[in-house]
Amino acid sequence: MQGARRAETMKTPLTARRPWRGRRVVLGVTGGIAAYKSVQLARDLTRLGAEVDVVLTRAAREFVTGLTFEGVTGRRALSDLFSTDGAALHIKLGIEADVVCVAPATADFLARAAHGRADDLICTTLLATRAPVVVAPAMNDRMFSHPQVQANLAHLREVLGYAVAGPGVGPLAVGEGEGPGRMLEPEELVEHVGRALTGPTSLAGRRVVVTAGPTREAIDPVRYVGNRSSGRMGYALAQAAWRRGARVTLVSGPSALPTPTGVGRISVETAEDMHAAARDVLPEADVSVFAAAVADFRPSAPHDEKVKRSRTGPTWGIELVANPDIAGDTRDLRKEGSVCVGFALETGDVVANAREKMEAKGFHLMVANDASEPGAGFEVETNRVTLLDTRGGAEALPLMSKHDVAEAVLDRVEGILREREG
Ligand code: CTP
Repeated sequence: MQGARRAETMKTPLTARRPWRGRRVVLGVTGGIAAYKSVQLARDLTRLGAEVDVVLTRAAREFVTGLTFEGVTGRRALSDLFSTDGAALHIKLGIEADVVCVAPATADFLARAAHGRADDLICTTLLATRAPVVVAPAMNDRMFSHPQVQANLAHLREVLGYAVAGPGVGPLAVGEGEGPGRMLEPEELVEHVGRALTGPTSLAGRRVVVTAGPTREAIDPVRYVGNRSSGRMGYALAQAAWRRGARVTLVSGPSALPTPTGVGRISVETAEDMHAAARDVLPEADVSVFAAAVADFRPSAPHDEKVKRSRTGPTWGIELVANPDIAGDTRDLRKEGSVCVGFALETGDVVANAREKMEAKGFHLMVANDASEPGAGFEVETNRVTLLDTRGGAEALPLMSKHDVAEAVLDRVEGILREREG
């Protein structure tokens, strides 16, 4: 039962949200075996609220059919440049697109795109659009490392400003071994598309540090003192900051969540490890977000060997000593002019207690939430928070997903950054 509940709470349901909601995505699919993963990509983008127009090349249709995509997008899949629906389909697609993503992008497609060829629907759409373009290369590693492919990619990236997502390193098609050339996974490509849709922001190029997750404090080699934090809130913040163009470092305690796309993760176990990692990275941070649920105490003398039940008797007292206050202790290390965000999890007098912590730890924005409220706090997808600012303002937000809370927090952070720049 416990296991079932945990599996349920770890799932991240896809619901329409920023920056995909209501946006037009042209998804070009070219002829590589990774095209099977693009079906999932089309489905995920649709579930996030985008309208996805899939454009298949002739070669792509050797691997997947238009019907498959229509089943997940609810929209007609397109492939014919010379269709009877109107000769200017490529112009319409290009103008209406908020982003064009080509996944998989084969070596042949990259060559045609780099030369501005206009011999099929996706290449003509690329010439007609002024929307950002994301390409996700997918091919054998020997082909990928060929100087001509690299030159084509360099042209797309440097001259045309396309975002090149991947490729990843890993198993290639059956019988081809492993190497760089594998198309990124759909969940990573969703984020690359999200980053392109987000466009330029005040966080672009800034360094953001996020602490997240619980810490574990050893009692003996098998037992620990910890808490129920899943890391979800901090991971959502790190991912959203990356989508806004920031260079993000996530200092994370043990969490089952995958590392957010594009984010550098430093994995730690104890509060003291997290303290040391934070000290290393904070001096460079333009924005720091303390979302970790740090264990305030640790066993004073962890045992080297597993404590046997026969030795403890019916009761067992464990002495705890205070851990460092990571946010408070590192105040002097913060970069001048940086913005610092704290979290407060309370079970009573939420706003008053949070404001006290905000002042004591020198936060510029405080995200306060009530652990006793249903749908808020640990192990749930949602949160109901109140945002406190340094002018005494308190803005109570409705119950929303942690992803939406992350967007709201970063909107405020960007507001503070813009205000400071005058
Ligand atoms: N925090 C921290 N290091 C700690 C404890 C907390 O960096 N050892 C940070 C948290 O990441 C959060 C803020 O300080 O941003 C407040 O955390 P919270 O646990 O609510 O407060 P505490 O200072 O631990 O106070 P208390 O547990 O007594 O409410």
